[in-house]
Amino acid sequence: MLLGIDIGGSGVKGAPVNETTGELTAERLRIPTPSPATPESVAGTVAEIVHHFGWSGPVGCTYPGVVEGGRILTAANVDSAWIGVDGAGLLSDATGCPAALINDADAAGLAEIAFGSGRASEGVVILLTLGTGVGSALFTHGQLVPNTEFGHLYFQGGAAEKFVSDAVRKSEDLSWTEWAARLNAYLGYIEILLWPELIILGGGVSKRHEEFLGLLTTRARVVAAELRNNAGIVGAALAAARAG
Ligand code: BGC
Repeated sequence: MLLGIDIGGSGVKGAPVNETTGELTAERLRIPTPSPATPESVAGTVAEIVHHFGWSGPVGCTYPGVVEGGRILTAANVDSAWIGVDGAGLLSDATGCPAALINDADAAGLAEIAFGSGRASEGVVILLTLGTGVGSALFTHGQLVPNTEFGHLYFQGGAAEKFVSDAVRKSEDLSWTEWAARLNAYLGYIEILLWPELIILGGGVSKRHEEFLGLLTTRARVVAAELRNNAGIVGAALAAARAG
């Protein structure tokens, strides 16, 4: 068993995970993300979750930006104080447990490939999380290419996530048809670059997939993520297992 913790913009969520079945072995705990969400304050929240479960083993955490060898390199939608921080070191010190850190979309992708919508796919699979920003995870033969940032492809005059995220759908009050037209343009662009066989759409809006999946016109099969809200927690635990 490993403890998975998903650090998001509004909540930090954690639960122990059985890494061979992908199941949560206890009810998850969610604590609102502190504001401002500085590295120190978020590390304190992660430590609270660790203590709540009386945990002393390895911990895996997600982070919504580029993570290389435990170090944080970007902060598109979070406090810029995170840039340059040794996130894995910070969280290990705060919790007293060995901590691994992984990009949030990469974590969701690992979980979907192991236990969800991507489990039968050997070819090129792309998972996109549509939330405040747009995160991406790229796989071939089930292997992750870490830190792809397809939400930051230059598209329609800026970062693609400013055009197709779920936050933009809400703030611009787009109808499902209008938003699906944007998604079709964006997914079509990704398709001519990467030719995936499967596109998995995650993030909170995937709960409402019946509103928009049928409007998508991609060449690739496009499906909703199966693990929904728990993909980050499960993928974080898988990252801890990989870190050994
Ligand atoms: C970040 C990604 C992250 C995504 C979803 C983007 O702005 O650059 O690293 O995966 O938001 O949180």
